[in-house]
Amino acid sequence: MSGLDKMRETFRRDQVWNFLMPRYTYEDVLDTSKGPILYLEDVTVSFDGFRALDDLTLYINDGELRCIIGANGAGKTTMMDVITGKTRPDHGSVFYGQRIDLLRLSEPEIAALGIGRKFQKPTVFEQHDVLVNLELSMRMDKRVWTTLSARLSGEQRDRIDEVLEIIGLKNEAYKRAGLLSHGQKQWLEIGMLLMQDPRLLLVDEPVAGMTGHETERTAELLTSLAGQHSVVVVEHDMEFVRSIARTVTVLHQGSVLAQGDMDTVQNDPRVREVYLGD
Ligand SMILES: Nc1ncnc2c1ncn2[C@@H]1O[C@H](COP(=O)(O)OP(=O)(O)O)[C@@H](O)[C@H]1O
Ligand SMILES: [Mg+2]
Repeated sequence: MSGLDKMRETFRRDQVWNFLMPRYTYEDVLDTSKGPILYLEDVTVSFDGFRALDDLTLYINDGELRCIIGANGAGKTTMMDVITGKTRPDHGSVFYGQRIDLLRLSEPEIAALGIGRKFQKPTVFEQHDVLVNLELSMRMDKRVWTTLSARLSGEQRDRIDEVLEIIGLKNEAYKRAGLLSHGQKQWLEIGMLLMQDPRLLLVDEPVAGMTGHETERTAELLTSLAGQHSVVVVEHDMEFVRSIARTVTVLHQGSVLAQGDMDTVQNDPRVREVYLGD
């Protein structure tokens, strides 16, 4: 490419420079004034005639920490796939706040609206240190103008410090992520999600494989996120669920079997029968 062509490419009229684009603000359209941040109504997903979700209706309140439990195959992961746009339901509606119809949006659009998902297996950049992992996840946030060579602003540095504090890895900031314990990797990944400033966090089985101490720390971490964020945790570990949950939803064969505080749910005869193995 000649110098002139390069210059033309840089100044193409049909492209706006990233730094001139307004920061994507979903806060303007996200309406949680009625309480819920997430509305799932009559959501059905079938795989070859088998209903993984069967008229599932579920509401998550803004700022709440919700635990979803249910046996293997109950539809927990499918539910998260629907919320994040990975799987489209046969019918039903999924709204983010009162106005944003998630079924009309793509996966990246949904992520850009502040819905973050943490998968079961941690996916951190093992060869980079903790700090760089957090930086990279911030740079992957399309709403923020940065290039790999750009210096971080003071505000961005402050946010990284804040997240290091939240996830309890301040002393590990310069440690290679590959050398972290399993639990620390999970926290780092939660930190990487936090760098993108999500409003709603979906977390799939966060304490699988953790030590008792790590499990306790994770309970504290997720509890501390509620309020600022809405958090939906799918988990099997009942002890853990008891330690964090205010409201527990039990899924069974793709719909809600019971919902309430831990005691109510644990004493529900239907729950005991299908899930707790009475
Ligand atoms: N892509 C798929 N194709 C076919 N069946 C699927 C697919 N995804 C999930 N299922 C089935 O749907 C049911 C619910 O699965 P899933 O949502 O993963 O449950 P959970 O996360 O609660 O264990 C299971 O019976 C599973 O085998
Ligand atoms: Mg699952």
